[in-house]
Amino acid sequence: MAKSDHQESDLNVLDNAGATEGRVTSRVAVEDDHRIDLALRPRALKEFVGQERIKKILGMSIEAAHGRAEVLDHVLFAGPPGLGKTSLAHIIARELGVNDHVTSGPALERAADLAAILNNLEEHDVLFIDEIHRLQKVVEESLYSAMEDFEFHIVVGEGMGARTMKLKVKPFTLVGATTRSGLLSSPLRDRFGQHFHLDFYNHAELSEIVRRSAALLKVAIDQPGAEELATRSRGTPRIANRLLRRVRDFAQVNKAPIVTREIALAALELLEIDTAGFDKMDRSILGAIIDKFDGGPVGVESLAAAVGEESNTIEEVYEPYLLQEGYLARTSRGRVATQRAYTHLGRTRRGTLF
Ligand SMILES: Nc1ncnc2c1ncn2[C@@H]1O[C@H](COP(=O)(O)OP(=O)(O)OP(=O)(O)O)[C@@H](O)[C@H]1O
Ligand SMILES: [Mg+2]
Repeated sequence: MAKSDHQESDLNVLDNAGATEGRVTSRVAVEDDHRIDLALRPRALKEFVGQERIKKILGMSIEAAHGRAEVLDHVLFAGPPGLGKTSLAHIIARELGVNDHVTSGPALERAADLAAILNNLEEHDVLFIDEIHRLQKVVEESLYSAMEDFEFHIVVGEGMGARTMKLKVKPFTLVGATTRSGLLSSPLRDRFGQHFHLDFYNHAELSEIVRRSAALLKVAIDQPGAEELATRSRGTPRIANRLLRRVRDFAQVNKAPIVTREIALAALELLEIDTAGFDKMDRSILGAIIDKFDGGPVGVESLAAAVGEESNTIEEVYEPYLLQEGYLARTSRGRVATQRAYTHLGRTRRGTLF
């Protein structure tokens, strides 16, 4: 891929951005989001809001590697969807001034797919592997020596005639991103020199993100309007951007020249996003634990069946925020709804504490 190809975007693509239907509060990127993500994606560390510790450490190691004309240590980003892992991966390449090659765990079906990419790398390039927890075992194993010694071992031929060929790879930086760091094998994890876990954003940071995005989208929004969206974004920049887009549509249709708190509230009510930023699925998860499983504990599979959602999606997408905010607790016997969940849904708690 040419230098920073992916960065080339056109804000015109945003013109139709509000048109597609879809869950407004989905944390995972949907088709429309890809265009918006691209246009709103911060391009430099100083444009990236929040995650101060990560920015500080990364900034330092990028500067040091640059200064010594050495390759940057491999970097692993873990954390829930929509918190900025992909953005940071691209920022690294940009700040290093190198080419950025992008692929993902599921896209690398065979070791040869990886060999082809590695063969194309120039010195100190960044190779970004998204969803790195979904690498095939053989691909993962062939990545080990590439990461460690910048060598790629490939088996040529079969049976008695099979032999291993060693290919040299130019020193490169692997940037891995995962929403499920628990699924990463330790040999792979250990080969990353730098590990970062992205945390949910606080309201002040989200409100800054909303204002930054509003400026890029040319949406007029005042501070109370931005704060209202921030508190409903579940700690997630992607959701903040999506809410902004929907509120923009609402303001336009209602001929409101500026998004105020009142406009934001009216739009959020229409979108059925409650004061905690929860949508129907969040409420349905908490409601199911309370109503169908007597508050829990309940295993994720039974919960998934009760709400009609994949158990993976519940674990990866919904649970992290519900856990962090204390609506849900995990015990050795399963998930339980906390007092906060009961209060939020306006239910009274029966029976004893768990
Ligand atoms: N710190 C931030 N500052 C400003 N905008 C941000 C920040 N983090 C994320 N965003 C916005 O949120 C969008 C989603 O971020 P990104 O695609 O980097 O998330 P991700 O962690 O890679 O998500 P996924 O796990 O779904 O791939 C970006 O396009 C950007 O607009
Ligand atoms: Mg991503």
